Amino acid sequence: MNISIIGAGYVGLVTTACFSELGNKVICIDNDTKKISLLKKGVIPIYEPGLEEFILKNLKNKRIKFSSSIKEAVNNSQVIFIAISTPALADGEADLTGIENIARNIALNMTGYRLIVEKSTVPVETGQWVKQTIQIYTKDKIKFDVASNPEFLREGSAINDFMHPDRIVIGVESKRARDILVELYKPLKAPLVITDIKSAELIKHASNSFLATKISFINAISRICDKVGADVVEVAEGIGLDKRIGKAFLNAGVGYGGSCFPKDIDAFINISKKIGYDFELLKIVKKINEEQKEFFLQKIKDTLWILKDKTIGVLGLSFKPNTDDIRNAPSIDIIKALQNEGAFIKAYDPYAMEKARLILDKVRFCRDAYEVCKNSDCLVIITEWDEFKELDFLRIKRLLKRPLIIDGRNIYEPKAMEKLGFRYIGIGRKTPKYLNE
Ligand code: UGA
Repeated sequence: MNISIIGAGYVGLVTTACFSELGNKVICIDNDTKKISLLKKGVIPIYEPGLEEFILKNLKNKRIKFSSSIKEAVNNSQVIFIAISTPALADGEADLTGIENIARNIALNMTGYRLIVEKSTVPVETGQWVKQTIQIYTKDKIKFDVASNPEFLREGSAINDFMHPDRIVIGVESKRARDILVELYKPLKAPLVITDIKSAELIKHASNSFLATKISFINAISRICDKVGADVVEVAEGIGLDKRIGKAFLNAGVGYGGSCFPKDIDAFINISKKIGYDFELLKIVKKINEEQKEFFLQKIKDTLWILKDKTIGVLGLSFKPNTDDIRNAPSIDIIKALQNEGAFIKAYDPYAMEKARLILDKVRFCRDAYEVCKNSDCLVIITEWDEFKELDFLRIKRLLKRPLIIDGRNIYEPKAMEKLGFRYIGIGRKTPKYLNE
């Protein structure tokens, strides 16, 4: 099929890469002309495993074209995906100005039937507004359909998530739109959930909110574990093995971050209020998440006592592993709060340092974990990159001023760390003083 993707951000680029890999001809549009000219040369602006390979391959065999012209996209494609970002306004409401603008531009350039698909995360009823906008601006009553096809891609594993999804959600109002999308997704073996547009829009917000709720729930449990000396990892395993609950997203830590959960939870609280429902549960989910960072900071303060003039080594800056994305990364707030108390920060992240440099001042960025540890008063883990799980701990112990690890992602076993001679503090972890051995 000939399709267009409007937006060359995370979602847009992954969707472009994967649809072209599946054999479609894809035009990817962005109004950032600098980004488009780099993409034309094969320079990918983000780090996402597998993305570059797919884009370079399909650029070469001419299944991908990058452009800044919506007209070109609309003229040459039957299906147009809108995959632009919907940032939060000051009160948390999603800013849909860009979506309206694109809907109008599509309408003004349409010469025949087009299927316009919402891929971006948008509040329920956006599809209705997109449809009205296109109706107002199309000439000659040209036929079109609007559909909602939310994405469930995780940064760091987005290509795999696209190619092997748990489900594909298609929200449509006509058989024609349904048939086109079913055909487009035919090569992917996944259950299809075919529904109306509003339900599809809600599935996206509800999924992200539910996952965030699981994280805040286990973080709340970790607080209780810390108070009574229980172990949150074992509690999570004990509840997660119940198939009705499931093991995923029960890792306690420093809270969720990224460009999706914080923004989507705000937007869902906001749209619910607008339509007359006070989503109190989600407000608490957000509150627990904010408190989790405070709680982690308090752990550092309780251990180091005075932070002024102490050197704190930080491992991990991205909001999660396998990405260089630092948007809403807990590391940023945590580092700034430590600096406010007078601490000096040394940090290392395998991919996110370039982006972190742009927003963090006075941090000494190091070439590896060992340089971070040298002469630091403690080692703090904020992102659970695999390479941090396999460090030479004897070397780390020698390099640190004192053998102290405060682990915000529970990547080490308390007992093993104590055996190695470290004082180890995790999130809701049972400390060896409670063990009978
Ligand atoms: C999330 C969803 O998982 C995707 O399905 C969705 O498509 C995407 O948002 C989106 O709306 O575009 P993403 O933000 O890339 O994906 O990352 P996640 O893997 O969901 O992690 C989000 C945050 O939760 C991270 O900060 C992570 O560290 C944290 N997290 C995750 C925990 O603290 N504990 C867990 O058990 C799992």
